[in-house]
Amino acid sequence: MGTLEKVVVVDFGGQYTQLIARRIRELNVFCEIMPYNVSLEKLVEAGPSALIFSGSSASVYDPSAPRCDKGFYELGIPILGICYGMQLMAENLGGEVMRARNREYGQTFVTVLGKSMLLEGVEERFAAWMSHGDQIVTVPSGFKIIATSENSSISAMADEKRKLFGLQFHPEVVHTPPGQQILRNFLYHICGLSGDWTIENFIEGSIAEIREKVGKGGRAVCGLSGGIDSAVAAVLVHRAIGQRLTCIFVDHGLLRKGEKEQVVRTFRNKFQIDLVVVDAGEEFLARLRGVIDPEEKRKIIGNHFIRVFEREADKIGGIEYLVQGTLYPDIIESRTAAGSVIKSHHNVGGLPDDMKLSLIEPLKYLFKDEVRGVAQELGLPEEIVWRHPFPGPGLAVRILGEVTPEKVKILQEADEIIIEEIKKAGLYREIWQAFAVLPNILSVGVKGDCRTYAHTIVLRAVTSQDAMTADWYRMPYNVLERISNRLVNEIPQVNRFVYDMTTKPPATIEWE
Ligand code: XMP
Repeated sequence: MGTLEKVVVVDFGGQYTQLIARRIRELNVFCEIMPYNVSLEKLVEAGPSALIFSGSSASVYDPSAPRCDKGFYELGIPILGICYGMQLMAENLGGEVMRARNREYGQTFVTVLGKSMLLEGVEERFAAWMSHGDQIVTVPSGFKIIATSENSSISAMADEKRKLFGLQFHPEVVHTPPGQQILRNFLYHICGLSGDWTIENFIEGSIAEIREKVGKGGRAVCGLSGGIDSAVAAVLVHRAIGQRLTCIFVDHGLLRKGEKEQVVRTFRNKFQIDLVVVDAGEEFLARLRGVIDPEEKRKIIGNHFIRVFEREADKIGGIEYLVQGTLYPDIIESRTAAGSVIKSHHNVGGLPDDMKLSLIEPLKYLFKDEVRGVAQELGLPEEIVWRHPFPGPGLAVRILGEVTPEKVKILQEADEIIIEEIKKAGLYREIWQAFAVLPNILSVGVKGDCRTYAHTIVLRAVTSQDAMTADWYRMPYNVLERISNRLVNEIPQVNRFVYDMTTKPPATIEWE
């Protein structure tokens, strides 16, 4: 993102760091998250026009609290400290921070004092989201108190001359209604930024970068999954290098109904991308015969996927680059220990490092909502842009016990009915993921005058922000009713339907 204006969010471990970054991007300013212990040289090398210090659950007077290089204050670029970030700034520059007598959590009312650039245009009294146990009792010299809360705590401070600012509350959350206005004041009026981070600029810049990287002769491959990330990455690379990109779509026989056809329609017919479709269903199902353990299933599918992909890439020959749809949160997450564990579990369908190909990851600075924006701008179909996440091992982790061709077929039919009805009811976009599960339970029923002994279908539908936690979706009864009727009427092997009403944790989103 070479020539764009840039803000660096210095991360002290606050729970809202990514949200801060997303809010800044929404204001059309590119920003990057860097850990609090980033060196002064590395920070300067990134070339930020401004810094934002995030929150943290730590206390500044704790000796092990995260601290940054004090040289950041000498760079002459504006800094906005949020919550802990403000307290650290106060302490670093000679102010005083103490354990608060009145801790503030949740929505609190804040009163603006006098005029200030940061709070320009904001109502004199407004609601703000607080979450702090410490408070600033004395601001450093040169600073003015520009807002206080109901119990007279310091809610905002400013040294307009040095362009250093602090907010005790969180402007990035929706519970602080003027939050976006405050961030806008900081970025546009205080830092003088123009807002050059737009989807069009991103696409243009990204295509130029890919061309430069791949040069005139290089060839690339991209594994398509049917999801949005690999689709956008592929279309961008195709725009940059045309037919020197080949996409590979491995049908492992565990996809949803119509998925392969959709990929062919989009990539081969609409975008005219060189696409290899590998019908490997039989190979995968043969390897899954008799396998019951979920992790074993994942391993078998993951390993064989790599083998099939490599085999196809070898057939093409002369490939130097591998395109991947890695997103920014994957990169930030994988820096933490917890994040990397989650990733290994979700990496099925990923490709090995030892393919000796250089990576092209055009989306590695984007958040999901930005990828959607790019996808729409590139003309990708709605079904891909808004598709619910789908696990790499596909339906294998939604069929409990052994996977057989017959069970795959039942589940594909059930899933199609469920998604059709949810879409018809206009609910698809408000649900994070909805899908059918085949729990491998046979139960007694009666159809017509005959006793049946047939399968149960479970519907799992959840809302979530990031799949780390999830709530079950309050599905309207009439939608459940239609789904239920259709499942038992249209699929002969099904005689019962149940709805999964469990949150994550303790359950997971997938059943395996
Ligand atoms: P869980 O079931 O762990 O799922 O709550 C969280 C999110 O990850 C997806 N998921 C996977 N994705 N390979 C993937 O690519 C996997 O093995 C896998 N397992 C779960 C799941 O669909 C949900 O979005």
